Amino acid sequence: MNKNEIIQSLEEDLKSVTKLPDLFNVKAKYLGKKGIVTELTSNMKDLSNEEKKEVGKFASEVRMEVTSRLEKVQQEIENQILEEKLTKESIDISLPAKKISRGSRHPFNRIIEDVEDFFVSMGYDVVDGPEIETDENCFQRLNVPIGHPARDAQDTFYIDSEYLLRTQTSSVQARTMQNNQDKTPIRMICPGKVYRRDDDATHSHQFGQVEGLVVDKDISLADLKGTLELFAKKMLGENTKVRFRPSYFPFTEPSVEVDVSCFKCGGTGCALCKQTGWIELLGAGMVHPHVLEMGGYDPKVWTGFAFGTGLDRLAMFRYEIPDIRYLYTNDMRFLKQFDRKDEENEIK
Ligand code: PHE
Repeated sequence: MNKNEIIQSLEEDLKSVTKLPDLFNVKAKYLGKKGIVTELTSNMKDLSNEEKKEVGKFASEVRMEVTSRLEKVQQEIENQILEEKLTKESIDISLPAKKISRGSRHPFNRIIEDVEDFFVSMGYDVVDGPEIETDENCFQRLNVPIGHPARDAQDTFYIDSEYLLRTQTSSVQARTMQNNQDKTPIRMICPGKVYRRDDDATHSHQFGQVEGLVVDKDISLADLKGTLELFAKKMLGENTKVRFRPSYFPFTEPSVEVDVSCFKCGGTGCALCKQTGWIELLGAGMVHPHVLEMGGYDPKVWTGFAFGTGLDRLAMFRYEIPDIRYLYTNDMRFLKQFDRKDEENEIK
């Protein structure tokens, strides 16, 4: 075969090639060990030098031509494969996206943020204190000496005779007064976890409290009343009525218990308020002179009020959560109910 015949026959073979394996077969037929082009030089050893030169030249020309045609076809096939792949894998950006499930703020944190917003807007600082506390800060500096019966009311987890898990955020009252070296006025709240040896539907061994402390000159029970009334309305709705009952806490004198009108029945009586129309919200009172004194504040010059409320109770009231333990079990079915949409329906 001369060069043209070989090329022609190659073109003929390439016509039916659409896939790479077909192409490799054709390639083998021409350039393989026993291929047509390879065969051209098979009897070189029997030729004269002159002939060798000629045949060699001819064979290499044919090989170049064949190779270039094969490469061209291979390139075409590969381009086509790429093209198909791109079309197949293209993304239709007009299709709706897969729904990503979004987290939501825990009801407990939502309550804390709302409480903080309210008090910060009134000029309070938000302070923090340790959960592992000394007996001194949790009890002694709050007028609860060792052996005082009030200790029984707060089933304490003791670590040793000196340290315990704080049973009330009131420990931060003691710390704040003590740490305020310059004895300047104090306006602070402290939200945080507290621990008691309780565990049933309305008590958990761990729960949240927020403490408030104001120390200044000429602070009276009227200031306490005004502040807590505003707070109750902010957290539970404008129509909330507030009532103060005399009570007892070792670190306040006088002490009060603050009730709010039942937001479920509006005060007419229902299961939630046990038919009384009222729900107990928090404990409060004027800071006991002895507590001020232990904190380094002269009770002849300074007065103050303090209050403490359960954050879990607030969350339970506000979101009508029947069992306090739901707040701690991280059940998605429960938590998912507190997505952002829900916030628009919150009592403002
Ligand atoms: N610490 C009290 C409790 O846990 C609540 C309280 C705080 C009462 C501050 C008066 C003043 O029950």
